[in-house]
Amino acid sequence: MDRIRIVGGNRLNGVIPISGAKNAALPLMIASLLTDDTLTLENVPHLADVEQLIRILSNHGVDYSVNGRRQRQDSGYSRTIHFTARDIVDTTAPYELVSKMRASFWVIGPLLARMGEARVSLPGGCAIGTRPVDLFIDGLKALGVDIDIEGGYINARAPKGIQAGRYDFPKQSVGATHVLMMAASLANGAVEIHNAAREPEVTDLADCLNAMGACISGAGTSTILIEGVSALSGARHRVLPDRIETGTYAMAVAMAGGDVVLEDTSASLLDAALDTLRSTGTEVTPTNSGIHVRRNGAGLEPVDVTTDPFPGFPTDLQAQFMALMTRANGTSRVTETIFENRFMHVQELARLGADIALSGQTATITGVDTLKGAQVMATDLRASVSLVIAALAAEGETVVNRVYHLDRGFERLEEKLTRCGATVERLSS
Ligand code: UD1
Repeated sequence: MDRIRIVGGNRLNGVIPISGAKNAALPLMIASLLTDDTLTLENVPHLADVEQLIRILSNHGVDYSVNGRRQRQDSGYSRTIHFTARDIVDTTAPYELVSKMRASFWVIGPLLARMGEARVSLPGGCAIGTRPVDLFIDGLKALGVDIDIEGGYINARAPKGIQAGRYDFPKQSVGATHVLMMAASLANGAVEIHNAAREPEVTDLADCLNAMGACISGAGTSTILIEGVSALSGARHRVLPDRIETGTYAMAVAMAGGDVVLEDTSASLLDAALDTLRSTGTEVTPTNSGIHVRRNGAGLEPVDVTTDPFPGFPTDLQAQFMALMTRANGTSRVTETIFENRFMHVQELARLGADIALSGQTATITGVDTLKGAQVMATDLRASVSLVIAALAAEGETVVNRVYHLDRGFERLEEKLTRCGATVERLSS
């Protein structure tokens, strides 16, 4: 299993290109199931999760080609991929595939809308809490879908198609909003979704579905209105920049010190996180094509954060920000409100010398003068990158084990950091 070795202490200087967003690419790829025409996605990041979803979609009958070639391309950053679901050959998403990645559960929406049935295994994914699927089930039922659960599978049927209806989310869910939007695109009538997730990835999916001929308005607000159409066509769509990768590298620069331009991204995707970063004393300036991040000399101010759905501070940057606060000049508090068990990085950060006390959903972090390199273990996608950030400022050598978590969500991390002067290398085994 690969490991990553980091020797801390170098400042970061240069340019980091930001990839297409994993969390947008996954639902966009799944949307290809809605049409027998070709959906072309540009700026698809080269990540383990994308490769896994390609395998899952292939199982349903989706043909794909990468930049015109039917093979994996191992060089270059984000790619253009063509997806064609001419015939859906299987409406079952089996346990062996869905358990590896929670987002693959989302195929339930398009399969139901196009084929009138889906049999989908209950999901697995990151170990960050129980992550139930009740909102998906209730939302689909509100659109006339019959659902029963048996032997770890959801059997869903909509023999007369997705019906007009309304669903009020009792709690915001990104994934369930994606699924209802995809299913409702082919509904027999109008669908209203209230208290919808407002994440930029929801807006990106709606933009793509509209380019395919759907009739969706209000994405990015709490109320989404969808006028069902009888069929969708192909389209060409560019995946939006990864706001979590953007925020992660911004925090890496804040941690290591230095002067870096994050290219091909947009500050408007992560205002709350960037404002928080400014409060730490880091200079953050939007540019025409990205964000300029700079921290020289002065220490980091402690800042309290609470995670919230968009436009709040994202849960997917919580671990990275906590890593940053381990070196602040004072005490800060980080409160997690989205997932109930998203603190696995705390004990690993402690191995590097961090001083963090956990109480319920709040971590109290007392900044220390020095972190010291150690062997640490990546436990989930975002937690693993928080260890990399801490290691950049730690004395000596840190080895992050189980980096397959990193490969799920960060394209060429070691290369992007090395080009800016960090000492980071992959140890293959
Ligand atoms: C997506 C992101 C993930 C991010 C999360 C929150 C992708 C691939 N993943 O995950 O990186 O951390 O949004 O921004 O885009 N919930 C229920 N019942 C449900 C569904 C969700 O209770 O049926 C709960 C979850 O357990 C969680 C909260 O709702 O506590 C938010 O989850 P949700 O927005 O659905 O997260 P994902 O879409 O899985």
